[in-house]
Amino acid sequence: MTDWHNVIGSVPRSSFTPDVVWADLGPGPWARVDRAADPGEWERVVALDQPLVTQFEDGKAEGEGLATSSLSMPEMVVGFLEQLDPYDHHRVLEIGTGSGWTAALLSARVGAENVTTVEISPELAVRAGERLRAAGFAPRVVVGDGAEGWADGAPYDRVHATCAVSRVPYAWVEQTRVGGVIVTPFSAGYGYGAVLRLDVLDDGTAVGRFGGSADYMLLRSQRPAGGAARTWARAAERDVRVRRTRLDPRALRYGPVSVDLAVAAMVPGVVSRFYSDADGATLWVLERDDHRGSWASVEYEPGQADFEVQQAGDRSLWDETEDAYLRWLRWGRPDITRFGMTVGADAQRVWLDEPGNPV
Ligand SMILES: C[S@@+](CC[C@H](N)C(=O)[O-])C[C@H]1O[C@@H](n2cnc3c(N)ncnc32)[C@H](O)[C@@H]1O
Repeated sequence: MTDWHNVIGSVPRSSFTPDVVWADLGPGPWARVDRAADPGEWERVVALDQPLVTQFEDGKAEGEGLATSSLSMPEMVVGFLEQLDPYDHHRVLEIGTGSGWTAALLSARVGAENVTTVEISPELAVRAGERLRAAGFAPRVVVGDGAEGWADGAPYDRVHATCAVSRVPYAWVEQTRVGGVIVTPFSAGYGYGAVLRLDVLDDGTAVGRFGGSADYMLLRSQRPAGGAARTWARAAERDVRVRRTRLDPRALRYGPVSVDLAVAAMVPGVVSRFYSDADGATLWVLERDDHRGSWASVEYEPGQADFEVQQAGDRSLWDETEDAYLRWLRWGRPDITRFGMTVGADAQRVWLDEPGNPV
């Protein structure tokens, strides 16, 4: 197996890091680190095993709002590349070029002529192409929606997304050779995401298992409707049903990543939002694509025997969530590696232990 730490040694992250990045250096907002203002601090931060945000809101605002591009944590990059495990001469498709660093690592391994990388942001793609050329690599850099893959370069032996999906685009399966591998962060919707590695079969499906947690930004077309949960819920406010629950809602946030995956598989089409401070916490569950859809909120208050639940809309999203969480407990809290997924042309299904046992 390739020693990716060696590859990183020959393709340093610093060669692909913009002069201005944002880093999570402690409590409070992410710190802006400017190479021109403090070259020593920039070097220090680039050497940390930490993600570095390089763009917010697709370039519209500086340092505010949703992070829309980043250099991932080096150890996470290595973990994904180990799962991908390309061999000599393999043709590799990367979705989410970002800085170009992963494309450079892949180029160093299989040859740039075998690497295609797709980036939705034209400015990022241009900058990445420049950095790649400066480092001596010339993979094909495509500006486009990676959800469509890049059919002109198919079939690929390996497809690696470096942005998360909540649905695996079927184009990736279609464009991967039988026996080929797709590796992507998968973000089901409740909280953190997980590593997903799929093998492509000869019947038009891909099947595989989840690995450890991986919190990545979502593929742009799969981002949930934005905004703060309270505003979102207020837009949909009508006939709010109130009850109480004995289940501490923080379990949905602080549980292992398999909770997110299992609950999201059983309560499809939702996202959660979580807010906490010294006085308590609120968990929101909202329909992911619809600001006017069903929603639920649960208020955790320290010292209480039970907690207020509000629900509105056609679905009772807290009832669904609580049932799903209790089912996961009854299964004996299965670890993330016991879950897998089958992706077909029309549907994708999460299963427990084996493909014949859908969740
Ligand atoms: C975590 S960053 C990728 C990091 C990158 N691999 C690197 O080495 O720097 C995720 C990237 O995915 C891109 N992206 C998001 N949605 C996309 C889409 N639909 N198609 C292609 N790229 C997309 C973002 O613009 C962002 O640059």
